[in-house]
Amino acid sequence: MNIQTQVQLKPFNTLSLDVTASHYLKVHSTQDLVDGLDYAKQQQLNVLILSGGSNMLLPQYIHALVMHMDIQGIENITEDEQSKTIRVAAGYIWHDFVLWTTEQHLYGLQNLALIPGLVGASPVQNIGAYGVEVGEFIESVQVYDRLIEKFDTIFSKDCDFSYRHSIFKDDPNRFVITHVTFKLLKHPHLVLNYGDLRQAVGDEQTAENLQKQIIQIRQSKLPDPKDYPNVGSFFKNPIIQQQVCDLLVEKFPRIPHYPQAQDNAKIAAGWLIDQSGWKGKQHGMVGMFHKQALVLVNYGQASLTDVQATYRAVQHDVYQKFNILLEPEPVLFDETGLIRSHLE
Ligand code: EPU
Repeated sequence: MNIQTQVQLKPFNTLSLDVTASHYLKVHSTQDLVDGLDYAKQQQLNVLILSGGSNMLLPQYIHALVMHMDIQGIENITEDEQSKTIRVAAGYIWHDFVLWTTEQHLYGLQNLALIPGLVGASPVQNIGAYGVEVGEFIESVQVYDRLIEKFDTIFSKDCDFSYRHSIFKDDPNRFVITHVTFKLLKHPHLVLNYGDLRQAVGDEQTAENLQKQIIQIRQSKLPDPKDYPNVGSFFKNPIIQQQVCDLLVEKFPRIPHYPQAQDNAKIAAGWLIDQSGWKGKQHGMVGMFHKQALVLVNYGQASLTDVQATYRAVQHDVYQKFNILLEPEPVLFDETGLIRSHLE
């Protein structure tokens, strides 16, 4: 185990915030994980689990042990006529895994191509895009449960997956995800009902072509963090009561809205932000992207304080116009490495 001190995390968070960690450990194995947790306990340090860094907001200095997940590997577990079960280590790059499944002629994850981050983080916020959520293809999640100090398996039905949510989000300091087990389909299964996707895919209805079209759509709208540091969609699409939605539609007939379970509706946050004048607008070094208003970009050397000032200004303007409070999507950490509410 090689614990380093005073480590710069700028290369490891896609918003490119200047962040120093007092203690840092690259985790290559489950043994490293156990050793690191023991060390943190002895030193009375909190632990911050760092994955792809594509969904986190970090302060300038973190006094904690940052454990950077880098466990690698893919294993075939079982297969039957319909499906194949595969266990993937937490440190595997998500997009590389999606490409691998397509090469293996396995169906299910093509709509999730090019999402940044690592496999281990995919269940946490139940990553989703273009009509598919990862939870639909997860059989189980292998974790280290810090409460009972044991490795454990959590089956999909107990993960409580819903829109950008899982039990791992509710109880963020309890579980460290080491592997994710996916059940993928061997026979063609293409989800084409989002926006213009069916048209984009056309007659060539193959996994390869679907994946290619998804990559093109994402590249045309979403900024590459290498060019424009960002954490993907900065806010969740708000879910409101259908009744409230009906009133909004009366006032704003063009508002994009999608029916949800339990008489709710989901509203496109990107549209709300766009209509509030924030598309392509900057506030100091931070702004909302000119091709997709839902993506916040660090255009300079912004700190967490700058990011907060901008997103609060966006929240304020959207609230003034639509009476909807947007909820930030990325996870906010404090100086001791713990997750903190955006509302504090
Ligand atoms: N819109 C605007 N102006 C904008 C942006 C969007 O009017 O600047 C409108 C669009 O015209 C469209 C609607 O808003 O009618 C929805 O836009 P889009 O299809 O781009 O999707 P989104 O709701 O903005 C969500 C996810 C994305 C995911 C896409 C595709 C959330 C928070 N975001 O974005 O996920 O890729 O759908 O499924 O649910 C992410 O989570 O980081 C992410 C990129």
